[in-house]
Amino acid sequence: MKVDVKLSPLAAEARTHLDATVIVVDVLRASTTIITALANGARNVVPVLTPDEAATLKLRYDSANVLLGGERGGVKIQGFDLGNSPLEYTEETVSGKTIVFTSTNGTEAIRKTTSAQTVLIGAYLNLEAVARFAVELGKDVIIMCAGNQGSFALEDAACAGAFCMAISRLTSVEESDSARAARMIASSFDTVIDTFHASAHGRNLVNLGFSEDLEYCARFNTTDVIPEYYNGHLIIRQKKSH
Ligand code: MLT
Repeated sequence: MKVDVKLSPLAAEARTHLDATVIVVDVLRASTTIITALANGARNVVPVLTPDEAATLKLRYDSANVLLGGERGGVKIQGFDLGNSPLEYTEETVSGKTIVFTSTNGTEAIRKTTSAQTVLIGAYLNLEAVARFAVELGKDVIIMCAGNQGSFALEDAACAGAFCMAISRLTSVEESDSARAARMIASSFDTVIDTFHASAHGRNLVNLGFSEDLEYCARFNTTDVIPEYYNGHLIIRQKKSH
Protein backbone atom coordinates (compact mmCIF):
# COMPACT_ATOMS: atom_id res chain seq x y z
CA MET A 1 0.00 0.00 0.00
CA LYS A 2 1.35 3.43 -0.96
CA VAL A 3 1.00 6.22 1.57
CA ASP A 4 1.44 9.82 0.52
CA VAL A 5 1.01 13.06 2.45
CA LYS A 6 -0.03 16.30 0.76
CA LEU A 7 1.52 18.87 3.05
CA SER A 8 -0.86 21.55 1.78
CA PRO A 9 -4.00 21.38 -0.38
CA LEU A 10 -2.08 23.21 -3.11
CA ALA A 11 0.17 20.15 -3.36
CA ALA A 12 -2.85 17.99 -4.14
CA GLU A 13 -3.74 17.38 -7.76
CA ALA A 14 -7.36 16.29 -7.97
CA ARG A 15 -6.62 13.62 -10.56
CA THR A 16 -4.17 11.81 -8.26
CA HIS A 17 -7.00 11.08 -5.82
CA LEU A 18 -9.23 9.08 -8.08
CA ASP A 19 -8.60 5.60 -6.85
CA ALA A 20 -7.20 6.36 -3.42
CA THR A 21 -8.56 6.70 0.07
CA VAL A 22 -8.10 10.33 1.08
CA ILE A 23 -7.87 11.29 4.75
CA VAL A 24 -8.40 15.02 5.28
CA VAL A 25 -6.65 16.39 8.36
CA ASP A 26 -7.32 19.81 9.88
CA VAL A 27 -6.59 18.81 13.43
CA LEU A 28 -6.88 22.40 14.79
CA ARG A 29 -9.81 22.38 14.59
CA ALA A 30 -12.18 21.61 11.72
CA SER A 31 -11.62 17.86 11.49
CA THR A 32 -11.76 17.47 15.28
CA THR A 33 -14.98 19.51 15.35
CA ILE A 34 -16.62 17.50 12.55
CA ILE A 35 -15.76 14.21 14.27
CA THR A 36 -17.15 15.54 17.57
CA ALA A 37 -20.38 16.77 15.97
CA LEU A 38 -21.08 13.39 14.37
CA ALA A 39 -20.02 11.47 17.49
CA ASN A 40 -22.52 13.57 19.46
CA GLY A 41 -25.38 12.66 17.16
CA ALA A 42 -25.45 15.35 14.47
CA ARG A 43 -27.39 14.01 11.49
CA ASN A 44 -24.75 15.25 9.06
CA VAL A 45 -22.32 18.08 8.44
CA VAL A 46 -22.45 19.97 5.15
CA PRO A 47 -19.11 21.65 4.38
CA VAL A 48 -19.40 24.88 2.40
CA LEU A 49 -16.81 27.41 1.29
CA THR A 50 -18.23 30.71 2.45
CA PRO A 51 -20.51 32.16 5.14
CA ASP A 52 -22.86 33.39 2.39
CA GLU A 53 -23.11 29.90 0.91
CA ALA A 54 -23.91 28.59 4.40
CA ALA A 55 -26.67 31.16 4.97
CA THR A 56 -28.22 30.44 1.55
CA LEU A 57 -28.11 26.71 2.10
CA LYS A 58 -29.74 27.03 5.52
CA LEU A 59 -32.88 28.36 3.82
CA ARG A 60 -33.28 25.01 2.01
CA TYR A 61 -33.55 23.09 5.28
CA ASP A 62 -36.21 22.97 7.96
CA SER A 63 -34.81 25.74 10.15
CA ALA A 64 -35.59 23.88 13.39
CA ASN A 65 -33.14 21.14 12.44
CA VAL A 66 -30.22 23.06 11.02
CA LEU A 67 -27.39 24.93 12.69
CA LEU A 68 -24.77 27.14 11.10
CA GLY A 69 -21.26 26.44 12.38
CA GLY A 70 -17.79 27.66 11.62
CA GLU A 71 -15.24 30.40 11.91
CA ARG A 72 -13.31 33.12 10.25
CA GLY A 73 -10.11 34.25 11.94
CA GLY A 74 -10.75 31.48 14.48
CA VAL A 75 -13.91 33.09 15.87
CA LYS A 76 -17.62 32.48 15.37
CA ILE A 77 -19.09 34.11 12.28
CA GLN A 78 -21.70 36.79 12.94
CA GLY A 79 -25.20 35.32 12.79
CA PHE A 80 -23.96 31.72 13.13
CA ASP A 81 -25.19 29.38 15.86
CA LEU A 82 -21.80 27.83 16.61
CA GLY A 83 -18.13 28.63 16.12
CA ASN A 84 -15.38 26.11 15.43
CA SER A 85 -14.66 25.00 18.97
CA PRO A 86 -15.32 21.25 19.21
CA LEU A 87 -16.40 21.87 22.81
CA GLU A 88 -19.49 23.71 21.56
CA TYR A 89 -20.70 20.66 19.63
CA THR A 90 -22.25 18.87 22.58
CA GLU A 91 -24.88 16.17 22.28
CA GLU A 92 -27.46 18.53 23.70
CA THR A 93 -26.74 21.09 20.99
CA VAL A 94 -26.17 19.00 17.88
CA SER A 95 -28.09 15.75 18.27
CA GLY A 96 -30.38 15.19 15.25
CA LYS A 97 -29.24 18.40 13.55
CA THR A 98 -27.73 19.16 10.17
CA ILE A 99 -24.70 21.40 10.64
CA VAL A 100 -23.91 23.65 7.69
CA PHE A 101 -20.24 24.32 8.33
CA THR A 102 -17.54 26.59 6.95
CA SER A 103 -13.98 27.09 8.15
CA THR A 104 -11.00 28.91 6.71
CA ASN A 105 -8.99 25.90 5.57
CA GLY A 106 -10.74 22.70 6.57
CA THR A 107 -13.84 22.92 4.44
CA GLU A 108 -11.85 24.04 1.41
CA ALA A 109 -9.56 21.02 1.75
CA ILE A 110 -12.60 18.72 1.97
CA ARG A 111 -14.23 20.27 -1.07
CA LYS A 112 -10.99 19.80 -3.04
CA THR A 113 -11.30 16.05 -2.77
CA THR A 114 -14.55 15.54 -4.64
CA SER A 115 -12.96 13.33 -7.29
CA ALA A 116 -11.72 10.77 -4.77
CA GLN A 117 -13.57 7.51 -4.30
CA THR A 118 -13.40 7.60 -0.51
CA VAL A 119 -12.82 10.73 1.56
CA LEU A 120 -12.51 10.35 5.33
CA ILE A 121 -11.97 12.96 8.02
CA GLY A 122 -9.18 12.26 10.46
CA ALA A 123 -7.73 13.71 13.66
CA TYR A 124 -6.13 12.30 16.80
CA LEU A 125 -9.60 11.60 18.23
CA ASN A 126 -10.26 8.88 15.65
CA LEU A 127 -6.71 8.09 14.52
CA GLU A 128 -6.74 4.33 15.07
CA ALA A 129 -10.26 3.81 13.68
CA VAL A 130 -9.50 5.73 10.49
CA ALA A 131 -6.09 4.10 10.00
CA ARG A 132 -7.59 0.64 10.46
CA PHE A 133 -10.45 1.36 8.08
CA ALA A 134 -8.13 2.79 5.40
CA VAL A 135 -6.06 -0.39 5.61
CA GLU A 136 -9.21 -2.53 5.33
CA LEU A 137 -10.19 -0.66 2.15
CA GLY A 138 -6.87 -1.77 0.67
CA LYS A 139 -6.37 1.27 -1.60
CA ASP A 140 -3.43 3.63 -1.62
CA VAL A 141 -3.79 6.35 0.99
CA ILE A 142 -3.37 10.09 0.57
CA ILE A 143 -3.36 12.14 3.74
CA MET A 144 -4.35 15.67 2.85
CA CYS A 145 -3.32 18.39 5.26
CA ALA A 146 -5.63 21.40 5.25
CA GLY A 147 -2.66 23.64 6.04
CA ASN A 148 -2.97 27.34 6.49
CA GLN A 149 -4.29 29.39 3.56
CA GLY A 150 -2.48 27.23 1.05
CA SER A 151 0.70 26.93 3.13
CA PHE A 152 2.20 24.29 5.35
CA ALA A 153 0.81 23.93 8.91
CA LEU A 154 2.99 22.15 11.46
CA GLU A 155 0.11 20.65 13.45
CA ASP A 156 -1.48 19.04 10.40
CA ALA A 157 1.84 17.66 9.17
CA ALA A 158 2.49 16.10 12.58
CA CYS A 159 -1.00 14.56 12.69
CA ALA A 160 -0.46 13.21 9.15
CA GLY A 161 2.80 11.69 10.42
CA ALA A 162 0.88 10.01 13.25
CA PHE A 163 -1.48 8.54 10.64
CA CYS A 164 1.52 7.23 8.66
CA MET A 165 2.82 5.55 11.80
CA ALA A 166 -0.58 4.05 12.66
CA ILE A 167 -1.05 2.69 9.13
CA SER A 168 2.45 1.24 8.98
CA ARG A 169 1.84 -0.60 12.25
CA LEU A 170 -1.04 -2.40 10.51
CA THR A 171 0.36 -3.20 7.08
CA SER A 172 3.48 -2.87 5.00
CA VAL A 173 3.64 0.49 3.28
CA GLU A 174 5.61 2.30 0.65
CA GLU A 175 5.87 5.87 1.87
CA SER A 176 6.50 8.97 -0.24
CA ASP A 177 9.17 11.44 0.86
CA SER A 178 6.48 13.77 2.22
CA ALA A 179 5.03 10.90 4.27
CA ARG A 180 8.49 10.25 5.71
CA ALA A 181 8.94 13.94 6.44
CA ALA A 182 5.55 14.05 8.22
CA ARG A 183 6.56 11.07 10.32
CA MET A 184 9.84 12.77 11.27
CA ILE A 185 7.94 15.88 12.32
CA ALA A 186 5.55 13.80 14.44
CA SER A 187 8.36 11.98 16.18
CA SER A 188 10.36 15.12 16.90
CA PHE A 189 7.87 16.29 19.56
CA ASP A 190 7.36 14.60 22.93
CA THR A 191 3.62 15.29 22.99
CA VAL A 192 0.91 16.50 20.66
CA ILE A 193 0.36 19.52 22.90
CA ASP A 194 4.03 20.46 22.37
CA THR A 195 3.41 20.33 18.62
CA PHE A 196 0.35 22.52 18.94
CA HIS A 197 2.22 25.09 21.04
CA ALA A 198 5.03 25.16 18.48
CA SER A 199 2.61 25.85 15.63
CA ALA A 200 1.52 29.32 14.52
CA HIS A 201 -2.14 28.34 14.47
CA GLY A 202 -1.93 26.69 17.90
CA ARG A 203 -0.41 29.84 19.38
CA ASN A 204 -3.05 31.95 17.69
CA LEU A 205 -5.82 29.82 19.20
CA VAL A 206 -4.24 30.18 22.65
CA ASN A 207 -4.19 33.96 22.17
CA LEU A 208 -7.87 33.84 21.23
CA GLY A 209 -8.64 31.99 24.49
CA PHE A 210 -9.01 28.48 23.07
CA SER A 211 -6.37 26.62 25.16
CA GLU A 212 -8.97 24.05 26.19
CA ASP A 213 -9.60 23.26 22.53
CA LEU A 214 -5.92 22.38 22.12
CA GLU A 215 -6.14 19.94 25.04
CA TYR A 216 -9.25 18.37 23.51
CA CYS A 217 -7.80 18.15 19.98
CA ALA A 218 -4.72 16.37 21.40
CA ARG A 219 -6.72 13.40 22.76
CA PHE A 220 -6.01 10.07 21.10
CA ASN A 221 -8.60 7.49 20.04
CA THR A 222 -11.59 8.67 22.01
CA THR A 223 -14.03 7.59 19.27
CA ASP A 224 -14.48 5.10 16.43
CA VAL A 225 -16.55 7.58 14.43
CA ILE A 226 -15.25 7.91 10.87
CA PRO A 227 -16.78 10.83 8.98
CA GLU A 228 -17.03 10.23 5.24
CA TYR A 229 -17.64 12.90 2.62
CA TYR A 230 -20.37 11.58 0.41
CA ASN A 231 -22.64 13.48 -2.00
CA GLY A 232 -21.73 16.82 -0.47
CA HIS A 233 -22.43 15.66 3.10
CA LEU A 234 -20.25 14.36 5.90
CA ILE A 235 -21.87 11.36 7.51
CA ILE A 236 -20.68 8.51 9.68
CA ARG A 237 -19.15 5.78 7.54
CA GLN A 238 -21.01 2.54 8.15
CA LYS A 239 -18.32 -0.10 7.91
CA LYS A 240 -20.70 -3.01 7.35
CA SER A 241 -21.98 -1.61 4.05
CA HIS A 242 -18.54 -1.91 2.48
C1 MLT B 1 -9.54 26.05 9.66
O1 MLT B 1 -10.36 25.45 8.96
O2 MLT B 1 -8.74 26.84 9.18
C2 MLT B 1 -9.45 25.85 11.15
O3 MLT B 1 -10.28 24.85 11.56
C3 MLT B 1 -9.54 27.16 11.84
C4 MLT B 1 -9.86 27.10 13.33
O4 MLT B 1 -9.15 26.47 14.11
O5 MLT B 1 -10.85 27.70 13.73
